[in-house]
Amino acid sequence: MESLSGSPGDPVRGRAIVASRQTGLCLLCHSGPFPEERFQGNLAPELSLSAGRLTAPQLRARIVDASRFNPGTIMPSYYKAQDLVRVAPKFVNQSILNEQEIEDVVAFLVTLNKSNTQ
Ligand code: HEC
Repeated sequence: MESLSGSPGDPVRGRAIVASRQTGLCLLCHSGPFPEERFQGNLAPELSLSAGRLTAPQLRARIVDASRFNPGTIMPSYYKAQDLVRVAPKFVNQSILNEQEIEDVVAFLVTLNKSNTQ
C-alpha cells in the first residue's frame, strides 16, 4: 500500500503516537523499544520484530486495516478512507488516525528495523 498523504512521515511524531495511551494505544497489545513505558502489551508481536520482517508498504497496510490480513484480529483498523458521502457531521472523519499520522507511525516503525542501513 502506497503513502496515504504523499508527504514523508515524521518518525518522532510517529513514536509519540505509538507510545500514546490516547491516540495510538499500540502498547496496549504490542511491546517495543520504549524503556520509559512501564506497561506494554503481550498480545501481539514485538514491534521491532515486525519492522524487521515487513516493508513500509506492508506495515502501512496492516495499520490501516489489520482485518484484511486476519479477519478475526483484535487490532483496530486505524484508517478509514474518508470517501463517505452524506453522513451526519459527527460521523465525518471517524478514522482513529489521519493520513499523515499513519505515515508518521510507518516512518517510526521503519526506524526499528535493525537491518535498515539508512
Ligand atoms: C487491541 C490490540 C492491538 C492494538 C491496539 C494494536 N495492535 Fe497491532 N496487532 C495486534 C495483533 C493481535 C496482531 C497480530 C496479527 C493479528 O492478529 O492481526 C497485530 C499485528 C500488527 C502488525 C503486523 C505484525 C506482523 O509481524 O505481522 C503491525 C505492524 C502492528 N500490529 C502495528 C500496530 C501499531 C503501529 C499499532 C498502533 C497504531 C497497533 N498495532 C495496535 C493487536 C493490536
